[in-house]
Order: sequence, then C-alpha cells, then structure tokens
Amino acid sequence: MRRAACPGSFDPVTNGHIDIIGRAASLFDEVVVAVGVNAAKKRLFTAEERIEMLTEACAPWPNVTIDSFDGLLTDFCRDRDVHAIVKGLRAVSDFDYELQMAQMNSSLSGVETVFVPTRPEYSFLASSLVKEVARFGGDVSRLVPAHVLGRLTTRLSETS
Ligand code: PNS
Repeated sequence: MRRAACPGSFDPVTNGHIDIIGRAASLFDEVVVAVGVNAAKKRLFTAEERIEMLTEACAPWPNVTIDSFDGLLTDFCRDRDVHAIVKGLRAVSDFDYELQMAQMNSSLSGVETVFVPTRPEYSFLASSLVKEVARFGGDVSRLVPAHVLGRLTTRLSETS
C-alpha cells in the first residue's frame, strides 16, 4: 500500500490544490490531505471549515481522505504510515523553500517528497491571492469550486 500526504493550509482550497490532489490520487493507492492547524497563524476559515470544503472538493476520489495535524508533518506521516509527501510546484520561486522543507523532512524521518508541476493555468494561483482579489470584489469564480466561492463571499462580507 503506497500512501501519500498532500499537506497545506488550504485557507481555502483552490482549483490548483484540487488538481494536485487528484493527480496524487492517481499516483498513490491512498492520499491523505493533511490540513495544517497552526493556532498561531490567523486564518480566514477554521480548521473544521477547511476540512469541510476539502471533503466536498475531494469527493470524486474514493482513495482520498482528509485529516488535520498540529505539529511536525513528519510526525503526522509516521503516525499515519505515510511514505511520501506530494507538493505542487508552481514556479521556480516555490522551489527554494520547497526543496529546503523536503530536505529537512527527509533528514528528520527519511520521508520522501514528490514534486508535481502545477498545470500552467494554475501557476499563479494561491489561496492568499484568491482572498485578496475576492476581498476587493474581483472575480475568482474560475479559481475555486462553487461551494468554496459561496463560503468565501459570505465570510468576507461578515469580516469587512
Ligand atoms: O499551504 P502552506 O501554508 O504552504 O502549508 C505549509 C505546511 C502546513 C505544509 C507547512 O508549513 C508544514 O509542513 N507545517 C508543519 C510544521 C512542520 O513540519 N515544519 C517543518 C517543515 S520542514
């Protein structure tokens, strides 16, 4: 059984994340989407909300489950018997930090990181930008699933 983790904050999940998760699901027997719960970081959505959005978005893949973690990703991987971490690479600018994290995680526990190149149509996509554009009334309907767009619109109207 080859089990991989797709870690991230997913605040909120975007079409770029979903593309990487779906491709990971075709490469591995099981994929666990690992939602980072760092209480020190301010998020737009709670961990429960992020998990709900991911659960709906990942419904097409029966071998994908959603879980959360607070602490080291390598501990999560050890506890869930995960052999590989899958990360999307958008551009060269992602590479330095992702390589550093991959090497740190490998040195901590030996877990491998597999980089999947982001599709060109999603290469500019980031949750932070989606939130910023949506906050100022820009159209992000092609960048996130419809159910995420609904929650985003509601949350931003509550917080403005
Ligand atoms: O979506 P993000 O914010 O890029 O996700 C980052 C995340 C959660 C994958 C990363 O910060 C992480 O792995 N955090 C867990 C803490 C940890 O293991 N830190 C050491 C990384 S080498």
